[in-house]
Amino acid sequence: MSLQGFDLEKYLQHSKKVDTSGLDFAAAARYPLSDDEVRCLTYMMDIESHTIVYLKGILNTCAVRDPQTTAFLSCWAYEEFFHGRTIRQFLAACGVPVSEDRVVEVQKKASWREWFEQLGASIICQISDHFHGVYLTWGAISELTTLEGYGILAGRTRHPVLADLLRRLAKDERRHFSFYYNKAKQQLTHRNAQRLTAFILKRFWLPVGEGVKPDSEVDWMNRFILGDSLGAQVAARIDATIAKLPGMSWFNLMSRTREDALRRLGPVRPASLDLATEAAR
Ligand SMILES: [Fe+2]
Ligand SMILES: [Fe+2]
Repeated sequence: MSLQGFDLEKYLQHSKKVDTSGLDFAAAARYPLSDDEVRCLTYMMDIESHTIVYLKGILNTCAVRDPQTTAFLSCWAYEEFFHGRTIRQFLAACGVPVSEDRVVEVQKKASWREWFEQLGASIICQISDHFHGVYLTWGAISELTTLEGYGILAGRTRHPVLADLLRRLAKDERRHFSFYYNKAKQQLTHRNAQRLTAFILKRFWLPVGEGVKPDSEVDWMNRFILGDSLGAQVAARIDATIAKLPGMSWFNLMSRTREDALRRLGPVRPASLDLATEAAR
């Protein structure tokens, strides 16, 4: 079956590691990189690098029985690996070295929730043909969140090399999002797929990184990226986009995640206050 809205053949033909040509990593250390940006990039790097573990879980579900999905996932995992690796190279160029064993260290700290969800997913696949809608919609939310996150950080940073790199990563994420979203749209035409997807997302959905990073770090990240008024607009935009999928008109989980993080950690400091503090140092 062809996939409307996404040219899978073209994607497979052109899949490649993120293009870093012309990015001056040698000059990266000359520009300011805040502690918060380092923390945020470390989170992003860890999640990008964790893709291979996530892939292992998803291939234990019925995803492995869909040739379009397996073809996509093969290239997707390759591209995500280079996202993690490139962020790591950038951090190293800025004087923030990352241990060779970082991927294993992150994996060791991942909570039982991830394992439990993967087990649950493979069991559901044995009893329902409609699980495709679940992982595809989940994937669409994750990719959209990631691409919006890179966009926000690129617009906010005062580091020109980082801004350029993040925009290049976001380009890849947009293609990933397009696959998941268009394929989810196709799978969710069936009412039972909509019901199963809504049921699972309402009860078990986790924002990007939860289950892998500590809860406090996930809250910090959600507040850092989405905490200001622009973040509120972006969270609402993500919700509205996912809500356009069949049976997903109720979707509001991104705005809720943002609000929960702000409630737990307190409101974000206005950027003007940070700049004033910096100027006073
Ligand atoms: Fe990525
Ligand atoms: Fe992605």
